[in-house]
Amino acid sequence: MEEKREQWGSKLGFILAAVGSAVGLGNIWRFPYVAYTNGGGAFLIPYFFAIFTAGIPLLILEYGMGHKYKGSTPLAIARANKKWEWLGWWPTISAFIILAYYSMILSWATNYLTFSFSKKWGDDSNAFFHNDFLQLTSSPFEFGKMIWPILLGIALIWAINWFICYKGVKGGIEKANKILLPTLITIMIIITVRAVTLNGATTGLNTLFAPDWSMVMKPKVWIAAYGQVFFSLSLAMGIMMTYSSYLPKKTDINNSAFMTAFANCGFEFLSAIAVFAILGYMAASQNLPMSEVVSSGVGLAFVVFPKVFSTMGILGTILGSLFFLCLIFAGITSSVSLTEAVAAPFSDKFGIEKNKMVTIICIIGFVISSVFATGAGLYLLDIIDNFINNYGIVVVGLLEVLLIGWIVKPKKIREHTNKISYFKIGSWWDITIKYLTPAILIFMLVQSTITEIKNPYGGYPILSLFLYGWSIIGIGVIGALLLAKRPWKDKQI
Ligand code: ALA
Repeated sequence: MEEKREQWGSKLGFILAAVGSAVGLGNIWRFPYVAYTNGGGAFLIPYFFAIFTAGIPLLILEYGMGHKYKGSTPLAIARANKKWEWLGWWPTISAFIILAYYSMILSWATNYLTFSFSKKWGDDSNAFFHNDFLQLTSSPFEFGKMIWPILLGIALIWAINWFICYKGVKGGIEKANKILLPTLITIMIIITVRAVTLNGATTGLNTLFAPDWSMVMKPKVWIAAYGQVFFSLSLAMGIMMTYSSYLPKKTDINNSAFMTAFANCGFEFLSAIAVFAILGYMAASQNLPMSEVVSSGVGLAFVVFPKVFSTMGILGTILGSLFFLCLIFAGITSSVSLTEAVAAPFSDKFGIEKNKMVTIICIIGFVISSVFATGAGLYLLDIIDNFINNYGIVVVGLLEVLLIGWIVKPKKIREHTNKISYFKIGSWWDITIKYLTPAILIFMLVQSTITEIKNPYGGYPILSLFLYGWSIIGIGVIGALLLAKRPWKDKQI
């Protein structure tokens, strides 16, 4: 008997949700900086290479697995090979941990959206962010006080996650993405158009796109490209397999994978243009070299950009509020996908209704996230994010390709996706999954482990890296092994 499973309302709905998951903070605040520091225009070579040799092949793999085996990540993997079920639980746990800090960043963005109207950060955006807003303590072991506005924002984000996921795949996630994604793209276009007409914008764009060909030969640049593509396409996070398990029998996998990758890539370029045009304006108006104004992640969004917005008068208020709105929308569509990627496996495994599971996950998630609302929040984010990205995601991605490449056999998945897809993929895909992607991922892993041993991350005390970094990886693996031992309720494997 065929098991009943929720379904997307349309193929477009699925693609929007997948693009919504992919387009996130990684596109807006990570890509521009990664491109700039890794060769600018020349970075496009490793970047596109990574998209074609890892991004799209892995999307096809994850979509194909979810669709063929009709289950959330651990269920799909268990059905492909029972012994490897734990490999589906590991990214599920990682997704939960990512969610905990993702909701904190979204809480910051929500707070900053309200600050942008009065430019509450004043003249010293750096001191405001670290001292007044975050009340950052002096070490990762010192938690300081609970910061209520941040906790309130975290509660709000979890409530939104809950509301959207509780309403189900079609009535909640699909609907939310249909509204949020086009709005996000429209706002980003408005920001970009205004940004490129700012004084100094061309300097910014020249800096971003000027190719430094010497970088193309450096391994670290290739690692950065693969890391960016993985994170940005939400690969090895348990999301895409779960999302594709809600596709109807008749659908188109190969095309959807290409569309998701290209849409995400387009948004990445749009944000990079906006970010560098604004940074160019800042450099020109303050007579500073570009190298002194560029920044990434937290520093870009909450320190550098607020400073720029302060110099722009009313335009700064408008651009500022639109920018934080973009972060929030991009982040919510990703955090919703992460919530679904956590709730669906537990619902599948224990036979608990999905919306009940969503409620449980959101309550536990909120409690865990509250640790991030303390004065040590930024340290925790920094350490956990580094370990999850460098080890959690890359190792899961590697094991995924090894499992499919060598045990399940790529041909099985390819034949399945080709049977239903408008255009067929050739045996190049099998070769990529079997040899190319694993080789690159092993190389990446070895490199980042060597770097980690030589220079422990961020200059933090070793104990803190063990407590918040390596132990998180350990919890992921042990938790996954334990969960895999439990039986599936009402599911055939
Ligand atoms: N793909 C999501 C992002 O880029 C997780 O932030």
